[in-house]
Amino acid sequence: MERTEVNMRISSERLVLRPWIAADRQPFADMSADREVMEYLMPLSPHDASGGWIDRQLEHLQEHGMCFWAVERKSDQSFVGAVGLLPVSYTAHFTPAVEIGWRIARAHWGKGYAPEAARAAIRFGFEELDLSEIVANTVAENVKSRRVMAKLEMTRDASDDFDHPRIPEGHSLRRQVLYRLTQKQWRSLAP
Ligand SMILES: CC(C)(COP(=O)(O)OP(=O)(O)OC[C@H]1O[C@@H](n2cnc3c(N)ncnc32)[C@H](O)[C@@H]1OP(=O)(O)O)[C@@H](O)C(=O)NCCC(=O)NCCS
Repeated sequence: MERTEVNMRISSERLVLRPWIAADRQPFADMSADREVMEYLMPLSPHDASGGWIDRQLEHLQEHGMCFWAVERKSDQSFVGAVGLLPVSYTAHFTPAVEIGWRIARAHWGKGYAPEAARAAIRFGFEELDLSEIVANTVAENVKSRRVMAKLEMTRDASDDFDHPRIPEGHSLRRQVLYRLTQKQWRSLAP
């Protein structure tokens, strides 16, 4: 794993997590316009879909040394999606906390890329940033994302379920399940 300030790259067997470049903007916009990818996510504003979200990740990287990185496949440099770590931006019973998240372009689903990229991001979070815990959240219906959480050996306690304060009351995405992985648990699992 190399880390050179904001030019850092996190490498896994098939993938690299790296800062965003201009060539990512169109594939990111295409992924964000895909209804199946966005099924359980709040829609991006036109500003965010056309680059504002990417700009914000680069700012997070400067400020926090972490962000949702662009994920590139090593074999052909194709854009795979966005996976990364961010300080949770709202207040809830489990904050302050750092969350992990993922979205993968549909053409690349089912190849284990999200768990592979997430494992690399988790290693970075625990080994380089010395985080004590990483959390993840989604709606209960998002089975695909919960499968990724399970593959990462993150665990859910139903008493941690919460109403997302940034999502309006009555919205179908407001109630969320929370998964956790502590550095201590991760170290006991690591080969
Ligand atoms: C969740 C997501 C990142 C998983 O990425 P991935 O690289 O496909 O992950 P995996 O290959 O490990 O597959 C995870 C699960 O997705 C489901 N899945 C995989 N390929 C699929 C496909 N082509 N169609 C439907 N479901 C599929 C399976 O349930 C799979 O679990 P399994 O391996 O136990 O069968 C991806 O589905 C995605 O981007 N979803 C939309 C964005 C999103 O919801 N992000 C999370 C917000 S909290």
